[in-house]
Amino acid sequence: MSNMQWCHYRNDQLLAEEVPLASVASEFGTPTYVYSKAAILDAYGEFVRAAQGRRALVCYALKANSNLAVIELLARAGAGFDIVSAGELARVLAAGGDPAKVVFSGVGKSEADIRAALAVGVRCFNVESEPELERINALAAGTGQRAPISLRINPDVDAGTHPYISTGLRENKFGIAHERALDAFKLAASLPNLEVLGIDCHIGSQITEIAPFLAALDKLLELAGRIERAGVALQHLDLGGGLGIDYQGEQPPARGELLAAIFERVAAHPLGQRYELMFEFGRSIVGNAGLLLTRVEYLKSTPVKDFAVVDAAMNDLMRPALYDAWHGVLPVVRRVGQKVVYDVVGPVCESGDWLARNRALAISAGDLLAIETAGAYGMAMSSNYNSRPRAAEVLVDGRRALLVRSRETVESLYALERRLPPED
Ligand code: LLP
Repeated sequence: MSNMQWCHYRNDQLLAEEVPLASVASEFGTPTYVYSKAAILDAYGEFVRAAQGRRALVCYALKANSNLAVIELLARAGAGFDIVSAGELARVLAAGGDPAKVVFSGVGKSEADIRAALAVGVRCFNVESEPELERINALAAGTGQRAPISLRINPDVDAGTHPYISTGLRENKFGIAHERALDAFKLAASLPNLEVLGIDCHIGSQITEIAPFLAALDKLLELAGRIERAGVALQHLDLGGGLGIDYQGEQPPARGELLAAIFERVAAHPLGQRYELMFEFGRSIVGNAGLLLTRVEYLKSTPVKDFAVVDAAMNDLMRPALYDAWHGVLPVVRRVGQKVVYDVVGPVCESGDWLARNRALAISAGDLLAIETAGAYGMAMSSNYNSRPRAAEVLVDGRRALLVRSRETVESLYALERRLPPED
């Protein structure tokens, strides 16, 4: 079992906190995402404890899981938020989050995105290019504001992670090249409707070592020195997110360990004490706090393989199809009996529609399975492919199971579509 202590067997029945998953399925149906309130708060709390006594803001990167209830839990815990669209900003506000703790990331902010953020007063725009500086400056001039900005630098460090989620290499589309950073900061400082606050980076996701974070930090600190010497004062360093989690036995540093290493490095630098530190963690806050509950529709045997065809699919959890990602599979009722090696697949008409491969399971048709470590980039990346209504979402809190998103209805899938006018 991966690092999901909130999920455990009692009398061979799998429980989420104190709620039997079988009762979640009978009350809310399947497929259903199930999140643990305690696991989310514990993960965030580890970061907060490690940052205690430091000038630091730990933001939650909404893209990992943007359910309002998840946002609200974290908002109540004092979290800041890292957003990438006006849609995510609207969610933060709808969940009671504080716009003054919002950092706005993303390589392609539209005019509408920027206007929405200026209207509520976000903490900082993390800018990714010179044209974006000009656009924000012009829009801020229109409203008579000075927009707070940071520049995202591409530190060119290898995060050692999957190429699709590695973002700090030179050839990635993200950030401003290290060697152009100084000029970009001078440009930013010269624009009258911008206020330069900081420098940021994000080198990738599912990083399981401390070293790449420290390498990026060193580059940021070195640059910050040159920027300050050029006469542009900085107030914060934002190191992004990217801390990995345990899907299949990976051993990432503990949350507190990573932050401690970063604070130590910053403290040792002559400029270090000057800066507030910011972080944008997504996966490491919610990833291990969620699972996807699904029911076996059929056990299907072919001459070469056995398949467990379940009612969740690639549209619900895209990570295996997209990244070849590994997610653990647990039977909700543990049976004695012969285990068979299955590919766990969904009903979608694509061979890429698989959730797990070559798993030894003792199961029957009708059984429930829990797909582990699905709290991050699960529901958030889901789609309606094959006209499949998206899953329900449930938050467990001790003995309580709260529905935090209803299962979509089929009618809602085409509610925005129009039939043709009558033929004449
Ligand atoms: N900040 C920025 C600017 C980002 O681009 C990201 C993630 C984060 C923070 C949060 O990173 P985290 O702490 O969650 O690693 N869909 C992929 C992951 C894509 C990550 C994109 N950026 C997956 O399922 O593995």
